[in-house]
Amino acid sequence: MARIVLGVAGGIAAYKACSLLRLFTEAGHEVTVVPTESALRFVGAPTWEALSGRPVSTGVWDSVHEVPHVRIGQSADLVVVAPATADLVAKAAHGLAGDLLTNVLLTARCPVVVAPAMHTEMWDHPATQANVSTLMERGVHVIPPVSGRLTGADTGPGRLPEPADLYAVCERILAHGIPVPAHDKYPARATPVDDADVDGGGAVSAAEGGLEGRTVVVSAGGTREPLDPVRFLGNRSSGKQGYALAAVAARRGAHVVLVSANAELATPPGVSVVPVSTALELQAAVEEAAEGADVVVMAAAVADFRPAHYAGTKIKKSHDPTDPDAAPVVELVRNPDVLAGLVERRGDEASPVIVGFAAETGDDEGSVLDHARAKLARKGCDLLVVNEVGTDKTFGRDDNTIHILRQGSSHVVDAGPAPKDEVAAAVWDAVQQIL
Ligand code: CTP
Repeated sequence: MARIVLGVAGGIAAYKACSLLRLFTEAGHEVTVVPTESALRFVGAPTWEALSGRPVSTGVWDSVHEVPHVRIGQSADLVVVAPATADLVAKAAHGLAGDLLTNVLLTARCPVVVAPAMHTEMWDHPATQANVSTLMERGVHVIPPVSGRLTGADTGPGRLPEPADLYAVCERILAHGIPVPAHDKYPARATPVDDADVDGGGAVSAAEGGLEGRTVVVSAGGTREPLDPVRFLGNRSSGKQGYALAAVAARRGAHVVLVSANAELATPPGVSVVPVSTALELQAAVEEAAEGADVVVMAAAVADFRPAHYAGTKIKKSHDPTDPDAAPVVELVRNPDVLAGLVERRGDEASPVIVGFAAETGDDEGSVLDHARAKLARKGCDLLVVNEVGTDKTFGRDDNTIHILRQGSSHVVDAGPAPKDEVAAAVWDAVQQIL
């Protein structure tokens, strides 16, 4: 049993908060509803009081002897604001405290979940986006609105997710807390999720489901190891598969940190990107983001070697005065194996779930799967996603074929040929089985 404060702001979606309240009380939680004055224009105080079995107040001047503006927030295990209007989000972001709900938000020291719902134009407005980002940077868990039919005849991102989806996120946060380290370090862009799937009046859930309340780290792209100011050792990874993994995880409700190495791709909605270039930079960013994360997916093509010496000025063709035709010899040193390092740091803990990628070709010594099984054993990660590579396969293409191998199991899941989004969904399905 938890003490939950359900804040309700003045939007048409306030009616959905009644169902959310029922889900909480039926689960045995003690819920105090704190509506705003305008919320009561949509759903009256008697409804909230009857459903919660507790008195309802909007201002700070009722029962002053009990100091409700401090006590309610201080004693809560979870504060959820659903729906949160643009006005409420703005007030919360700026620390205003003109009514009971905004006071509660200032005094709460427990996890705070905010589910904005408003018209698409209001949600998309830079002011709202900046306010939402501010809340996320402070560790508030924002459940983005879903796409679908809005109050009028129009459709777009802005709908409050279904009460059951909100409830699932809240229960997960009550059980596991908000993944604070990632929020602290990587303020997420609070853009709404992809609304390309809007189908008539139906809603496309921001959380396609399964990863709500989880923090996942995805590395993508290919590292570049500089040789001199104009040259580097790189590889042909486009980053498309890693970006698709990040996008699908965000759509499933995860907080996603995408460590992106030299990928020239658009940031997927709801994903925070940490740009890196070299393997060492990628290692530092991934290790930092992995602290407290639930899943790390190493989809990046990380250079195994880097030039031992960086020439601060451009290496000239005639670099050797004694032999004008000589070609320079580039000495290489090994880069750390980031994936293996993550497995080692995890030790005996089950978290984070670690997923490796392997780009393999079959050869005289074995098939693609033979090499992959050996790599899975060597790397010690939980899942290995195997790509067959060749000049016309995988790199830069929009579709992909993979095999997913799980540690300790001989079963192989095949996915594709399919768009990289679909392949990503198969990877997350496999991850979710482990979670
Ligand atoms: N990887 C890594 N750090 C490296 C190299 C690779 O973390 N220095 C990760 C990749 O992101 C990928 C996995 O390891 O998830 C497999 O990479 P791959 O290069 O295929 O594996 P290697 O161990 O380098 O094996 P090989 O000898 O086949 O190159």
